[in-house]
Amino acid sequence: MEFGVNLAGLQLEHPIMNAAGTCKRAEDVEKLANSAAAAIMVGSGTMAARTGNEGNVYEMDPVRGAYSLNSLGLPNPGRLYYEQELPRMTQTAHDAGKPLIFSGAGFSPEEYVILGQVADAAGVDVYEANLGCPNVWDGGKQKRIASFEPTLVREIVLRLQTVLSPRIRLVLKVSPFSDPVLLEQIAIEAQSGRVAGVACINAFANGFGLRLDGNRLITPGDGLAGLAGPALKPIGLGQVKQWRKLLPETITVIGIGGISTGCDVWEYQQVGAGPVAIATAYANRGEKVFSQILQEYVDTVEQKAEASV
Ligand SMILES: Cc1cc2nc3c(=O)[nH]c(=O)nc-3n(C[C@H](O)[C@H](O)[C@H](O)COP(=O)(O)O)c2cc1C
Repeated sequence: MEFGVNLAGLQLEHPIMNAAGTCKRAEDVEKLANSAAAAIMVGSGTMAARTGNEGNVYEMDPVRGAYSLNSLGLPNPGRLYYEQELPRMTQTAHDAGKPLIFSGAGFSPEEYVILGQVADAAGVDVYEANLGCPNVWDGGKQKRIASFEPTLVREIVLRLQTVLSPRIRLVLKVSPFSDPVLLEQIAIEAQSGRVAGVACINAFANGFGLRLDGNRLITPGDGLAGLAGPALKPIGLGQVKQWRKLLPETITVIGIGGISTGCDVWEYQQVGAGPVAIATAYANRGEKVFSQILQEYVDTVEQKAEASV
């Protein structure tokens, strides 16, 4: 049976990889190179190094494990580190037979461009522009999520188009849209340049959860944090289904949100995802999550094939 998928024109052995936020440094790439993940996602990286937010920044639902909340504040070693280390990280991934994707989070179109150029110069295979980070605060105010501004998305796409070499693939990572009309507008912008893939979805902005003692789960941002994990899966499936319908087949849709079993991967494939990516389950279970979910996925596909004979 064939389990390979296409990632923006690159062939992957199977669909499963890590999602952005789970691999920032060279040592993290080593771990993923030795795992069953089919590709390695690094980032999100920003221009300046960031220490991230303080206090409790990542928690699971204490009652049912139904969701994760995160407000890490994009901790990462910054552009200078990636300028130096990305070529070596890319080589590590390639030696393991896996493409490397770099996720850049800019605070302006110019920053997305510079981070893309860093990835391009390092020989990275795919540049993912993270247009959906919900947890960045500046001077007490939450920053605008780029995904929700069509003109901003257009500007980022067009500027990247003029500077990136034809070799590197461009993927846009987007937030979940509750307004289908806005999703459609952004899908039009995503086709205005050389976008090879759309990764959906990033965490749902400003979720909130309490501990059993009544205190808030997450410390920064008055407890408001990105919602992900199992509760995000039906939203992710619905978003992938809509994106797949709106985009030409030449643009890959990467499914993200609440994947923790092989059956979840299969469900994402049914709505049109190519590759799928995992953050919460990887954060909770470590690298073994990729081999476990891959085995379950293979079993699920085989069972479905037998049942349909
Ligand atoms: C701890 C943590 C850190 C994250 N950091 C990033 C990030 O830096 N860039 C990004 O695009 N998404 C980030 N995300 C979002 C994930 O990549 C993913 O889109 C989202 O969590 C949904 O997937 P999941 O349900 O498997 O967690 C982060 C998620 C988590 C849980």
